[in-house]
Amino acid sequence: MMILQVQDVTKRFGGLQALTDVTFDLPEGQILGLIGPNGAGKTTLFNVINGVYAPNKGKIIFRGEDITGKPSYEVARRGMARAHQVVRPLHDLTVRENVMVGACFGREGHSLTQAAHKADAALAQVGLAARADQPSGLLNVAQKKRLELARALAARPFLLLLDEVLAGLNPTEISEMVDTILKIRDEGITILMIEHVMQAVMSISDRIIVLDYGQLIAAGKPEEVAANPQVIEAYLGDPEMTARLMGE
Ligand SMILES: Nc1ncnc2c1ncn2[C@@H]1O[C@H](COP(=O)(O)OP(=O)(O)OP(=O)(O)O)[C@@H](O)[C@H]1O
Ligand SMILES: [Mg+2]
Repeated sequence: MMILQVQDVTKRFGGLQALTDVTFDLPEGQILGLIGPNGAGKTTLFNVINGVYAPNKGKIIFRGEDITGKPSYEVARRGMARAHQVVRPLHDLTVRENVMVGACFGREGHSLTQAAHKADAALAQVGLAARADQPSGLLNVAQKKRLELARALAARPFLLLLDEVLAGLNPTEISEMVDTILKIRDEGITILMIEHVMQAVMSISDRIIVLDYGQLIAAGKPEEVAANPQVIEAYLGDPEMTARLMGE
């Protein structure tokens, strides 16, 4: 079954066409990697999928239902959660309290007491249980990324949108986070992940889609996409990415 269907999605900001006729499907239980150069429209696509923006054209179908233009809080209630690219925890709240926010506004809409239990379970899942009572402002970058993931998980989603959760992490932290993501997938949560860390996204994704200037230029298995001349060309201005794509 397709958990998510994105059909002909176009999004304009004034004169800028950020997304043009983007179409793809995501089967339940898979990890789909979304890659593309800076400014390609990846985060904008997430914003359209989870209802931050309505598209100018096209449809978002989630679990068989048309959610196009529905507000984010309603999309969250239906079982779609998101970890943001720019992580901004509420610094005066503890780690647990931040994660409780996710449980309260998620699919199950918990009371505060239940939310605390759900938060602790999510913190254990991401390996942050020991920090539950600390103010979140004290966390380092890697811990803040885990907090953001826990907040999304506490919403008990069917579909998880991850926007660059590996950015800013060192190699050890990346491999720990990759293990965490695979465990989440094994529990039956479908994952759509935006990622610039090429080796990691290529190794854990079932399929990859590539955005360039707002258009989907490739879709397929990781090895097919990495060998696609159009994809390599899209990254040509970026020697580091080209080297990674070529498998260096
Ligand atoms: N709210 C907005 N208003 C106007 N322009 C926007 C808005 N949001 C995004 N854009 C523009 O849309 C384009 C796509 O931006 P987006 O953030 O989706 O790219 P991205 O692929 O996520 O890039 P990155 O890899 O750097 O995160 C950019 O040109 C950006 O400046
Ligand atoms: Mg982005």
